[in-house]
Amino acid sequence: MSTSDKRVQEASLSPEKVMHKLVSLAKRRGFIFPSSEIYGGLSSCFDYGPLGSEMKKNIKDLWWHAMTRRHQNIVGIDASIMMNPTVWEASGHVASFNDPLIDEKTTKRRYRADHLIENHIEKLRREGKDEQAGKVQKAYEDVAGQEDPNRALYDIIISQDIKAPDTGAHDWTDVRQFNLMFQCNMGAVAGSGGTVYLRPETAQGIFVNFHNVREASRMKVPFGIAQIGKAFRNEIVKGNFIFRMVEFEQMEMQYFVKPGTQLETFEAWREERFNWYVESLGISPDKLHWYRHDKLAHYADLAYDIKFEFPFGIEEIEGIHSRTDFDLKQHQEYSGKNMEYIDQTTNERYIPYVVETSSGCDRLFLALLSDAYTEDIVDGEQRVVLRLSPKVAPVKAAVLPLMKKGEMGEKARKLCDELALNFAVQYDDAGSIGKRYRRQDEIGTPFCFTVDHQSLEDGTVTVRYRDTAEQKRMDIAKIGEFLALQLV
Ligand code: GAP
Repeated sequence: MSTSDKRVQEASLSPEKVMHKLVSLAKRRGFIFPSSEIYGGLSSCFDYGPLGSEMKKNIKDLWWHAMTRRHQNIVGIDASIMMNPTVWEASGHVASFNDPLIDEKTTKRRYRADHLIENHIEKLRREGKDEQAGKVQKAYEDVAGQEDPNRALYDIIISQDIKAPDTGAHDWTDVRQFNLMFQCNMGAVAGSGGTVYLRPETAQGIFVNFHNVREASRMKVPFGIAQIGKAFRNEIVKGNFIFRMVEFEQMEMQYFVKPGTQLETFEAWREERFNWYVESLGISPDKLHWYRHDKLAHYADLAYDIKFEFPFGIEEIEGIHSRTDFDLKQHQEYSGKNMEYIDQTTNERYIPYVVETSSGCDRLFLALLSDAYTEDIVDGEQRVVLRLSPKVAPVKAAVLPLMKKGEMGEKARKLCDELALNFAVQYDDAGSIGKRYRRQDEIGTPFCFTVDHQSLEDGTVTVRYRDTAEQKRMDIAKIGEFLALQLV
């Protein structure tokens, strides 16, 4: 059967509806469930189901491969989540990894003061009150330079009579800084002596292992250390499904360079990371955007975000930061251990500068789902299809016998078992062939192999392509090679 463009027609879909549909599909088909749902769940915590965990693993494997295997001078580690608490004093997280929060007294709800103001400015602009918006914006920009920034935020909220976005209430407390790190007690006795933190970023596990990794792997600057792992932030602003969670996974790489070469290295990583999203993950490049930070953290000399056009707005999925020698210097000071690198050929000694690429695995997962989600019409029938890259798709192929019993079923089972040695595949013999195709379309399976009458005669099957619904005959013996080629 040949394909014509008329067979597949895109149905128009409003962006607002996409999130609702994604959340529902994710639960129904086993991508993502609310955490501990039978007990009413836990805000901003989610569980990845059978298909979700498979897809998340694919994302992490692709990142790991791109960062470590493809670069002889980048190696990976898997550091512990809990570390000596002095790490977080040295990194500055204890003193300043804070959000400015404000409570509404009547509803006892807590909000980010900065977000209340930003939303207010946006609202004024939407209402055409540009002059007022400009004034508030100016006052907001001046907050950082004020002697008491919390008071300055509070004054804006009160003078503008900003109300809680969800309830409209506005009996505000003072603004307070709230540290985002989760604290817990190590050992049997509670008390400040046993206080440890759940790491808020994976990066510090890399910095403190700088010399361990360099020596063990005989690395010379420039070299990188990559890590994938959980990070925890006690975020107050939650929502938008898995976009902002309190427990999430980061994929970070710290690249150690000679001071003075960091900006050139930064540009190279900027290009490589952007291309990875497009070429390896198949994300539409027109949905990716660069954002350059005007206000830099005190330790950075350049910072960009890669942002993605989510259905709810354009938001960050990865940060690329030139972090200077700040972190290693801090760890040198707090640990008393020399963090210098000695160049064996020139005998130069220096503390390396660091270019960091920091991607959020869960946000990327959501970006991929929303980029892939499509409703279209095939042969006059509406379907939901996840147009995921075969490399990302949780199931690479489905094997479908036209009839479940007899020789056809046996041949299909055998084919599925063989493919399962190398690929994530599903066997499905329930319902009409059309229904089975739709089930696979909805989870993004790129290929369906149907064993039919002709298969018993000439050893071929029908391969059906998810995106076009095109169907062709293929030799059973060639399927393994065909699938392997799709995943390169
Ligand atoms: N080490 C640098 C660092 O942690 P970041 O910009 O705070 O930088 C990097 O975080 C990435 O981690 C973000 O681009 C985002 O993808 C992800 N991320 C941060 N906070 C998150 C949260 N609460 N939920 C999900 N992902 C988050």
